[in-house]
Amino acid sequence: MNVGGKKILGTAAIAAILLAGGAGCSGPGRTFTKTMTLGGKKISARRLNNGEHLFVTYCSACHGMKGDGKGPAAIGLRPPPRNFTQAQFKFAAVSSGQLPNDEDFLRIIQKGLHGSAMLPWNDVPEREIMDIVQYIKTLSPKWAEKSPGEPIVPAPDPWGAERKAEAITRGMKVYHGMAQCLSCHPAYESKETINAASLELSKREATLRPDAYHSEMKDSDYGYKLMPPDFTRDHVRSGETLEDFYRTIAAGIGGTAMPTWKGALPDDDIWAMAYYVRSLVEIKGSPAADARRAKLVGELAPN
Ligand code: HEC
Ligand code: HEC
Repeated sequence: MNVGGKKILGTAAIAAILLAGGAGCSGPGRTFTKTMTLGGKKISARRLNNGEHLFVTYCSACHGMKGDGKGPAAIGLRPPPRNFTQAQFKFAAVSSGQLPNDEDFLRIIQKGLHGSAMLPWNDVPEREIMDIVQYIKTLSPKWAEKSPGEPIVPAPDPWGAERKAEAITRGMKVYHGMAQCLSCHPAYESKETINAASLELSKREATLRPDAYHSEMKDSDYGYKLMPPDFTRDHVRSGETLEDFYRTIAAGIGGTAMPTWKGALPDDDIWAMAYYVRSLVEIKGSPAADARRAKLVGELAPN
């Protein structure tokens, strides 16, 4: 299915080249002649030229010949493809707002972003992907000036399978009573339970948004608004394992108001929220999840 998808994109990429005025196989017309320092690493002209050629072939249909996210296949895509001239990224394991490491790019490009047009590129050799990644770094001057952020590495999971239920309960309390997740994402518990969690962990009464059981649309630095996922309804993009959730919650989401929690909360609590969010994703789309949401909305409605 992937391969089929890529064949179509290949055709779109060729169309893009023709539209761009016959720039030909050498891509947007630049030829690299010198080694460049990008994100603090020296990259040879040969790799950059190869990366450019591969970028045009595989990626430009969506990400655009100039890497500005305006390729011919980008029209109408929600979310739109990333604009690489901004050098801003969502899913890297670095403090929100810092530049990604090569391992982040490799993970994201090989696994794809679930529920978006960004498919997994798992049949392109790693070496080729890494050349594309280096080329992407020539599209914004930020990469010449800055190095990537310190990678966020998870401490070992302190809960483990045998304490899973305990982890989920702790995660539920931190999510609703301390970490402010429900200022953007939905609440999943009754007002009473949320208040108890807030009193226990933050020593204050909870304040709920009027529409607390649905996500709230948020501004972003990408030039469009983003809807934070409802974990019992929507896709999460960058993976659904405990480690994936740990990474997302610890790092935050670059270019959005979802903050970095690494260092601000104990690792045990970040892991507990990973367990909790995974437990919500596991009941995604089930009648029980829908019935529960409807009941909570009813309880909150003014009578
Ligand atoms: C069919 C369209 C399409 C193609 C082809 C495509 N992408 Fe994407 N890409 C997207 C979309 C859409 C997003 C934004 C997803 C989001 O914001 O959640 C994206 C996002 C990204 C991101 C940003 C990840 C982040 O953390 O912010 C990177 C890096 C990326 N793509 C690399 C590539 C590379 C490299 C190729 C070629 C091998 C490629 N893409 C091909 C649609 C595409
Ligand atoms: C200020 C708003 C805001 C807050 C606070 C917030 N988030 Fe998010 N979150 C977002 C947005 C926006 C997205 C969607 C990003 C996208 O896909 O474009 C998101 C996405 C996510 C994702 C999915 C990542 C993926 O791979 O698609 C997870 C998991 C998540 N948030 C967990 C949390 C948890 C847990 C908390 C509390 C510790 C939290 N968020 C706090 C705005 C927020």
